[in-house]
Amino acid sequence: MLVLGIESSCDETAVSLMEEVAGEVQPRLLSSIIATQIPLHRLYGGVIPELASRNHSVALPEVLQQALDEAGRSIHDVDVFASTAGPGLVAALLVGNTAAKALALAAGKPFIAINHMEGHMLSPFINRPNGLEPHLALVVSGGHSLIVNVQNHDDYTLMGRSLDDAAGEAFDKVAKMLDLPYPGGPEIDKLAERGDPKRFDIPRPMIHEPHLNFSFSGLKTSVLYLLPKLVENGNPNNLDEQTLCDLCASVRQAIIDVLIKKTRRALNETGLRLLAVSGGVSCNQGLREQLATACANDGVELLLPPNSLTTDNAAMIAFAGLLKARDGQFSPLDTPVDPNMKLAGYQARA
Ligand code: KG4
Ligand code: ZN
Repeated sequence: MLVLGIESSCDETAVSLMEEVAGEVQPRLLSSIIATQIPLHRLYGGVIPELASRNHSVALPEVLQQALDEAGRSIHDVDVFASTAGPGLVAALLVGNTAAKALALAAGKPFIAINHMEGHMLSPFINRPNGLEPHLALVVSGGHSLIVNVQNHDDYTLMGRSLDDAAGEAFDKVAKMLDLPYPGGPEIDKLAERGDPKRFDIPRPMIHEPHLNFSFSGLKTSVLYLLPKLVENGNPNNLDEQTLCDLCASVRQAIIDVLIKKTRRALNETGLRLLAVSGGVSCNQGLREQLATACANDGVELLLPPNSLTTDNAAMIAFAGLLKARDGQFSPLDTPVDPNMKLAGYQARA
């Protein structure tokens, strides 16, 4: 079975081909092409939905062809067409989704609508030889921070989530206040490597509360109040380099501390011994290192996908599509895109 995945929910146009080979648990990732629009949106300090949508339309035919060429397959070989149906920017979602449906219709092959967060959540298993296993998922992206007990690809229990800003959003908003380029997460991460995480006392919201939800919106407020104490008029461009690095390191550490504390608590509560981390924020160097240390101490196996599978990509969409196709979970062609899509098979914790 050959699955073609398309991702266009935000500012990456991506197409991937993944093949299931008889007798092998692990599907083969044949290609994963990503055309990023980040340099374009950087000019405006954030994603402009109309520009994103227009550029997906421009980029998609070539990205599709490249994905087929790299896989050495023709569009006629594809058995299933999968595409992100939400959550995301509605006009951006429509481009990839409509393309996948049109291809499925023309080829007389099935279509599968995929939840973008489900794609992220399952992505650490793309390269895992023994396939999907019950695990705890920490999904940290630009729009969501989730802790999920995953028993199977359609059996999830939500244990915790961000009640306001997601972790990536907190990075991006603080970066904007510091006049750093979009997206801010990688910029803060880079500067933090040269900074002292203990220099500034940044709040760790809800860290001691017994539930597993997050709240990161207070971080930007604390930076807002801190800046005028550090430089005249609070102008971040007047910060000396070391202070900027120390501030980034302190903010990064606050986010990491909360994420790790809640994740450890969820591991203890569930007894799960496998942790899979996904979403753009899982590229964070500090988070990766400190999670590795925490998991080694706790006897927990840690799955961290490579960065190319961590930020938005279509391999995760093809993979989720393949798992659903195995179970015959196809979607009608009139399935709408849903910018606020919730995970199916999802139950809140009792
Ligand atoms: O998963 P993703 O590519 O898109 C969404 O589904 O949102 O995540 C993008 C987010 C952005 O907020 C970006 O700043 C953040 O991931 N990000 C990082 C790093 N690389 C990307 N955050 C912290 N450190 C990084 N190295
Ligand atoms: Zn994403």
